[in-house]
Amino acid sequence: MKKLRIVFTLLLAMILLASCSSGAKDSASSGDGSADGKTYKFKLTHITPPSHMWHKAAEKFKEELSKRSDGRIELEIYPSSQLGSEADMMQQIEAGSVDFGFITAAYTSSRSPSFAAWFAPYAFEDLEAAHKARQSEPAKKILATLDEQGITGLDYLFAGQRVMLFKDKHVKKPEDMKGLKLRVTPSPPMQDFYKSTGASTEGLPLPEVYSAVQTGVIDGMDMDLDAAITNKYFEVAKYGAVTNHMVWPAVAMVNKKTFEGMSEEDQKIVRESLAAAADYAVETRSGQEEEFRKELADNGMEIYDMDPKLFKPYIEEFDKKYGPTDPLIQEFIDSVRK
Ligand code: BEZ
Repeated sequence: MKKLRIVFTLLLAMILLASCSSGAKDSASSGDGSADGKTYKFKLTHITPPSHMWHKAAEKFKEELSKRSDGRIELEIYPSSQLGSEADMMQQIEAGSVDFGFITAAYTSSRSPSFAAWFAPYAFEDLEAAHKARQSEPAKKILATLDEQGITGLDYLFAGQRVMLFKDKHVKKPEDMKGLKLRVTPSPPMQDFYKSTGASTEGLPLPEVYSAVQTGVIDGMDMDLDAAITNKYFEVAKYGAVTNHMVWPAVAMVNKKTFEGMSEEDQKIVRESLAAAADYAVETRSGQEEEFRKELADNGMEIYDMDPKLFKPYIEEFDKKYGPTDPLIQEFIDSVRK
């Protein structure tokens, strides 16, 4: 009798643990890789506000998951760094207390350096070209480097490219940046690109950028157009160079154990729902550049282009520095510069 009670208690604990760690609410596994009727209530975290394209993509992901699983797969979204910094978010995903994340490739590259490949300057003609490159072999191999951290890298999402905003200097060529103090996300490949022009970089977090430009602590910033509008940087920076010099991917990731605990068919639903969200983000965002330029100009910012050819020596310097650091970065660079 006592033995039976122990076996029963052990079984109960195993069932409870399995449902806690995967976000699964209900189980009836068929064991043959087909849809097994499990229901899930997943959590997804990211840093951008609800107005940013990454959040809209997260909502599209949620909608697609629900539609494709007949409501079995639910998603709760935690935007605006509600669950902490990206370092905190990745720890939560690793531990399984949060299931999914859209984490900047910039931060991800501090955990897995191969992601630096995405910051090769002027690597893509446009956003669609970057979107296409996300399905290339080197891009997939870069995602797979997260495996050893207990995380499955699923896909990439793009929301515009990086531009340069300057407080009061009309920068017309890279040499004009010499001596300027610019806010650049604390990601070595991004900062090295700016430093090669003679600028110095400050890795300020987004919430500190507005007042830093306003008070003259910095002379400008590396940003995307969405965030330039959302955060009203047109109020404190006079010049906007729409350089589109780098893409700005979010890495869509999930706790590995949770993902591998799903049936093959449910894994497919997750992958296809994410692909639909990534398509939605790129299609929507690609058509918005003119509208965003106009909105910034209407708010008093002088918007202009800079010839990418002016950056040739800085592009070469980047490739020479980063290619040899990692065979995957070299493979990626070779594939996009061909
Ligand atoms: C930034 O840190 O520059 C940033 C982060 C997320 C979205 C847009 C910009």
